[in-house]
Amino acid sequence: KSTSAPSLADGEERFSKSGFIFAAIGSAVGLGNMWKFPYITGKYGGAAFFLMFVICLLAVGLPVLMAELAIGRGGRGSVSASFSRLSKQKGWGALGFLMILAPFLILSFYSVVAGWTIYYAVRSFSGQLFSNSDYSGQFSAFIGSWQPVWWMLLALVLTAVVIIKGVSAGIEKFNKILIPGLVVLLLILVVRSLTLDGAGEGVSFFLSPDFSKLTAESALVALGHAFFSLSLGMGTMITYGAYVDKRQSLGIGTMAIGLGDLLYAFLAGLIIFPTSFAFGIEPGEGPGLVFVALPAAFAAMPLGSLFGGLFFILLAFAALTSTVGLLEVPVAFVRERFGWSRGLSVIVITLLLFLLGIPSAVSVGGAVGGLQFGEKTFFDWVDFICSNIMLPLGGLIVTIFVGYVWKHAGDEAGLTSSWFRIWIFMVRYIAPILVVLVLLYSAGALDF
Ligand code: PFF
Repeated sequence: KSTSAPSLADGEERFSKSGFIFAAIGSAVGLGNMWKFPYITGKYGGAAFFLMFVICLLAVGLPVLMAELAIGRGGRGSVSASFSRLSKQKGWGALGFLMILAPFLILSFYSVVAGWTIYYAVRSFSGQLFSNSDYSGQFSAFIGSWQPVWWMLLALVLTAVVIIKGVSAGIEKFNKILIPGLVVLLLILVVRSLTLDGAGEGVSFFLSPDFSKLTAESALVALGHAFFSLSLGMGTMITYGAYVDKRQSLGIGTMAIGLGDLLYAFLAGLIIFPTSFAFGIEPGEGPGLVFVALPAAFAAMPLGSLFGGLFFILLAFAALTSTVGLLEVPVAFVRERFGWSRGLSVIVITLLLFLLGIPSAVSVGGAVGGLQFGEKTFFDWVDFICSNIMLPLGGLIVTIFVGYVWKHAGDEAGLTSSWFRIWIFMVRYIAPILVVLVLLYSAGALDF
């Protein structure tokens, strides 16, 4: 046991083997898979983009995921503590702090969208959503009001309740219930969408690649999304790594998480594209796809309010297993740094998140004017700064740390020598270069 700062993961704060896999898949699978992925796939060329995404996931996403899990388990602390403990340098702890701030900021707008999904699930089951066929008007009226603030609060409170219960009774148990639920819902909806008249066109859009659509820009978007989708660069996988048993194989865990995330994105595509094509809806039209186009599609099918309700519940489940992973990062930090109890840490951070979330919730639909800065709303700015700047920066810090600073990364990873060579090659040479390109592109320094 370390004689310096107390380790967070001392004592009973541990995942069981399967609990860790469920929790990590829960974090990876989220709004990104269903809210961002379909519209960027639609925009950047369907199947060709999907293929690019798979390559990015395998070649860069998985090596970085493995690196994050190793840092967490090796450091056995919050992100910041793990970095300073493993490098024995305080400066690295400060860099790690960036990866504590990022999930906090992400959670402030992610919970807004999570709130929308809960609202839509309720309205869909109750049939109210389908009582007026102006779905675009309904959506604008909703996000243009103060209501999203309260739905965001509900999403935050549900998340807080899970995190207060701790690692095994909270995070692990919650994911062990919700992830199988998610799979069942996903399969029901896949069968529904694939049996719609005209589903074939959507399937072929999603699965027959047109390589002429592959551009450097689409590759960088795919890579950025692989990071977001695997919850990388934001401290979640490092924090979860701190609760992993020493005897668990990180290599197998990494594969399972990557496969789970990919499979989910694939099945989400098999729901969204056939459903939208069957009802003559263009898939590339932004977040409105999920909240405007799909309700119109559900309304047009038999038992639409049931399938619509199931779809939004699926989305809400996916969102909540991710918000849980985000909240644990700052909570772990505050507990370790200030010695606060879990309950106090959760309450204080959730309150701060609520306050920070309000401008996001009311700016996105224009409920409150004046929250537009340049061409972006407050919501868009927080999203942009987190997803486009802090996330690739976090990824870069991880690759440099594991590739060049922490000498014992290989021991913690526990790979066979040939896997180790591939892994460290990707982490040292390939990932940092690509991540820097994503960073430059996302920050607007590269133009195509
Ligand atoms: N991976 C999640 C998604 O695709 O929606 C988003 C996310 C969750 C990012 C948790 C980061 C994180 F720590």
